[in-house]
Amino acid sequence: MQLLTLLLCFCSQAFSLNQNQLDFNQAKNYEGSSNLVDLQYHMGPILSSPINLYVIWYGHWNPSHQATIRDFLYSLSSPAPFPSVADWWRAVRLYTDQTGANITSNIALSGEFYDFKYSHGMYLSRLSMQSIISSAVRSHPNGLPLNYNNGLYLILTSSNVQVQDFCRAVCGFHYFTFPSIVGVTVPYAWVGYSGTQCPGMCAYPFAWPKYSGMPPPSGNGGNDLMKAPNGDAGVDGMISVIAHELAEVSSNPLVNAWYAGDDPTAPTEIADLCLGVYGTGAGGGFVGAVYKDSWGNGFNVNGVKGRKFLVQWVWNPVRRRCFGPNAMD
Ligand SMILES: *[C@@H]1O[C@H](CO)[C@@H](O)[C@H](O)[C@H]1NC(C)=O
Repeated sequence: MQLLTLLLCFCSQAFSLNQNQLDFNQAKNYEGSSNLVDLQYHMGPILSSPINLYVIWYGHWNPSHQATIRDFLYSLSSPAPFPSVADWWRAVRLYTDQTGANITSNIALSGEFYDFKYSHGMYLSRLSMQSIISSAVRSHPNGLPLNYNNGLYLILTSSNVQVQDFCRAVCGFHYFTFPSIVGVTVPYAWVGYSGTQCPGMCAYPFAWPKYSGMPPPSGNGGNDLMKAPNGDAGVDGMISVIAHELAEVSSNPLVNAWYAGDDPTAPTEIADLCLGVYGTGAGGGFVGAVYKDSWGNGFNVNGVKGRKFLVQWVWNPVRRRCFGPNAMD
C-alpha cells in the first residue's frame, strides 16, 4: 500500500493512494475562509422539492447498523437539540437554482428495499448500481416506486460487497440513472460499509490508516482514535460519507449545478471542499473542535432518539467557508 491522501474524484468522497500525507490533512481544508474556492453554479437543477429517499440495503445487514443509519436519515428533517443534523443541513439549504428555489429541508425516508440475495453479485461496477435500482423498482410485490418527480435512491452495500474503486479511490459516489437502464433519469448515491474492508480509509477519524506511515492523531483526549458515537466505526464512518453524498447529490444532482473547477467530469463539490473538517480549527490531522459524550465518544451533531453523530462540514456559500452548526465562531 502506498500513502493515503485525498483527491478530487468524480462526484465522490475520494482518496488517492499515490500522493503524500500532507494532502490528507491539508489539501481540502477550507475551514478558514478562502477566496481561492471558485464554486460556481452551472445552471442545472438542484433538489428543491421535498425529497423522497429510497434506501436499498444490498447484501447482508446487521439490524442494529440499519437502525443507526435510519435514525440518521430521519434526523435530517426532524427536531433534535442544537446543534442537530437538521441544523447541519441548513448550510446545504443555502444553495439555490436559477429560479431562486433553495434545496429542500424536507427529506423523507419513503421506502426501503432489501436486496439480501445480492441480485447483481458481490463485485459491483459503478454502472451496476443502476441495474440494482432497476431491479428494486421492478421487483414484486415489495419493489420500490420509480419516483422520477422527487425520488432519490441510496444504495448501501454490506461489508462483504466489493465495489469498483471502493477503498482504493472512493468511499461513496453519486450520479444519476440512464433511461436505457432504469427507464428514467433519477439521482442516486451509493455508500459502502467500510468497517471490514478499509476502515482506516473510509471510517476516518474512527479508524486510522496504518499504512499511512504517520502516527494516529493525538489530542483526542488521550485516545489514539476517536470513539464512534454509535458503537461501530464502520457505521459511524459511513454516516459521514452518507451526509457528504446527500449534500452533493442535492446541490449537483445531474452534475451540472454547483461545483468548483473547470472539469465537469471531475467536479469539486460542496462537501469535497471540506473533507476531514468536523469542527472549528480542523487541519493538520485534527478533525476540529467536536464534542464528547459521557463515554468519551466523539460527535458534532444531535439526532432523533438521543442519537449523536459525527458528520463532516460542507461549504457554506454565504460565509464562504466550511461551516457546521458546532462552529465556535
Ligand atoms: C436560500 O438561499 C439563500 C441564498 O443562499 C439564502 O439567503 C436563504 O437564507 C436561503 N433560504 C433558506 C430557507 O435556507
